[in-house]
Amino acid sequence: MSIASNQSVKNIDVISVLPEMFKSLHFGVLGRALKNDLLRLTCWDARDYSVDKHRTVDDKPYGGGPGMVMMAKPLRKAIQHIQTQRDKPNWVVYLSPQGALLKQPGVVRLKEKLSTHNLVLLCGRYEGIDERLIESLVDEECSIGDYVLSGGEFAAMVLIDAMARLLPGVLGDETSAVDESFSRGLLEYPQYTRPENDEGARVPEVLLSGDHQAIARWRSRMALQRTLAKRPDLLGTAQLSAEEKKIDS
Ligand SMILES: C[S@@+](CC[C@H](N)C(=O)[O-])C[C@H]1O[C@@H](n2cnc3c(N)ncnc32)[C@H](O)[C@@H]1O
Repeated sequence: MSIASNQSVKNIDVISVLPEMFKSLHFGVLGRALKNDLLRLTCWDARDYSVDKHRTVDDKPYGGGPGMVMMAKPLRKAIQHIQTQRDKPNWVVYLSPQGALLKQPGVVRLKEKLSTHNLVLLCGRYEGIDERLIESLVDEECSIGDYVLSGGEFAAMVLIDAMARLLPGVLGDETSAVDESFSRGLLEYPQYTRPENDEGARVPEVLLSGDHQAIARWRSRMALQRTLAKRPDLLGTAQLSAEEKKIDS
């Protein structure tokens, strides 16, 4: 486990009963970011903070009902232990279907938090976490969608991947994230690669023209068109350039 002392280090600490699941993050873009120390990910096993020899972290819900509930004490111990290992204050995010829905502006905001805080991602299991832990130590709750997962691990991985793409040096080309869907509230324009003719379907002529201004205009128009066709709800809040506003109206 790494102990950060450098203020510029971006730390994400995950608390989970299945920390092994996070091994899948050590591949591709994110894997390179971790290898190059652009981001530090430390996974803590909630069971290591259990108070009994059986490593129990859950118990029956008061009032009855199905399933088990994660106890406050082991999670509190884990969060407090992480704080002793870091120079920056913790910012604790509980991945929860009851949290605010994660969208790109939320990803950007949490990525920026990495400069001033250790992001502690708390993954629930079973029926969730004792409410008293949430009330006392969780800074925000974050949902990745209006559906219920078996645990917060996949949600945490989604958040980590989305944030990592925005960190300097993580993507090969720094403009990649700028044009991507949602960065300005629009979907991205369509992409094409070789061959020019794929079973009779040709790449739009403008992309072969070498005229960068014409290509930029075409891409703006296509981004608007496909946002209108696929996600018209986004257009109300999208940040449109003067040119795009003319196309939109
Ligand atoms: C089965 S769920 C518990 C659901 C809880 N009983 C409820 O109805 O709100 C177990 C854990 O999965 C995680 N989880 C489930 N759905 C999620 C979602 N949409 N976004 C983020 N985390 C989620 C949370 O950490 C949660 O504690």
